[in-house]
Amino acid sequence: MSTLTIFNSARTPEAAPASATSRPIPAVLGADLEVPVKGGRLVGYANLDYAASAPCLEPVSAAVTAALPAYSSVHRGAGYASQLTTARYEQARHTVRAFVGARPDDSVIFTRNTTDATNLLAGCLPEGTTTVVFDTEHHASLLPWRHAVRLAPPAFPGEAVRAADEALAAIEGPKLLVVTAASNVTGELWPIAALAHIAHRHGARILVDAAQLVPHRRLNLTALDLDYVAFSGHKLYAPFGAGALVGRRDWLAEGEPYLKGGGAVRSVGESVEWHDDPEPRHEAGTPNVLGAIALAAACDALTATGWTALVREEERLIARLRSGLASIEGVRELSLWGDDHPRVGIVSFTVAGYTAREVAEALSGEYGIGVRDGKFCAHPFVRHLLGTSEGAPDGDCADDTGSAVRASIGIGSTQEHVDRLIEAVRDLVSRR
Ligand SMILES: Cc1ncc(COP(=O)(O)O)c(C=O)c1O
Repeated sequence: MSTLTIFNSARTPEAAPASATSRPIPAVLGADLEVPVKGGRLVGYANLDYAASAPCLEPVSAAVTAALPAYSSVHRGAGYASQLTTARYEQARHTVRAFVGARPDDSVIFTRNTTDATNLLAGCLPEGTTTVVFDTEHHASLLPWRHAVRLAPPAFPGEAVRAADEALAAIEGPKLLVVTAASNVTGELWPIAALAHIAHRHGARILVDAAQLVPHRRLNLTALDLDYVAFSGHKLYAPFGAGALVGRRDWLAEGEPYLKGGGAVRSVGESVEWHDDPEPRHEAGTPNVLGAIALAAACDALTATGWTALVREEERLIARLRSGLASIEGVRELSLWGDDHPRVGIVSFTVAGYTAREVAEALSGEYGIGVRDGKFCAHPFVRHLLGTSEGAPDGDCADDTGSAVRASIGIGSTQEHVDRLIEAVRDLVSRR
């Protein structure tokens, strides 16, 4: 299978055609934020930390503001505001379903974030399920599974497919393959269509962690034949605390309710009758209505803009950033599959002579640039890329031993931000 057919990049057949009705790329809040730097000066903030949390899109903020006056309880209120808010909440479900190209009978469960979504699914796996997962995953997709087979980082994309094939073939009983669509460390796109094909050939299901894909590329669950996808609103320009798990109903309908309480039950007497519709079953308690409305507004805004324009601008900026960093002696970009492999707007790198924390602090304190440093909650993968050993016990995700700096872009990123980062790193290197 060629690169073009297995990667869900803007150049694949799954990518959306340019829409005749595309709108201009929307603005983000905080584009004019000024931050203090050394010496007390104020400079415009260069936010290059989108992969951690993206800023709020203006249409998202507008949708939340518009929903607030009628904000009320959902599902059980008879009042008009309650009905209106319920309708908005349920409409958000339809919007999210359409955004990821889900099948009509797929469940859309609102969660807090991707971590919540993967944990929810982990609690619904049929008894005896074995999960196959690569060591390249974010901890949210690496850790929730009771019985997991962990695969080493594959040397090339075809090796990922071969390793998954071999691992799945050796497993009896229910099986689930878990894989990221776009790495939060390198931005590299994974061959999710080919992996879905292999999973299904072995009677397994596939969960795709789309946290870093959906802010950058169109995802079509149906076209890619994925069983589940998980993602977070706060990485999708909707920082109001909602995420989603989308996918096949049956495991979710039979799994233990994620939270036990009001809304998840049909009736309570001597015994409890739980809902077998996955949405109420796993959304007990008062849901994050505004989070869901915000998430849907982000989906609508990205769809209305059209992926062609978004991807074109992102690819221009990320190419500029990567070639600028590559031109600096002592800067090394982390990559699993090489310079030419398709990727989203994420670049992780090290700077010889500096710890990642020193670089990140200097970028913030002297240049007004926000980046992330650490192991990005992907300890095994970052260790693999840096060639460091487990050695001393790891601290949290920001642990500085064997760490890297990550710059990430999205809507609202500018050429000036990118150039400022390149020049700042050049400056730091020249002072060494
Ligand atoms: C690929 C990937 N998966 C999962 C997560 C976890 O997302 P959240 O913290 O929103 O649960 C992240 C967050 O960085 C991520 O990048």
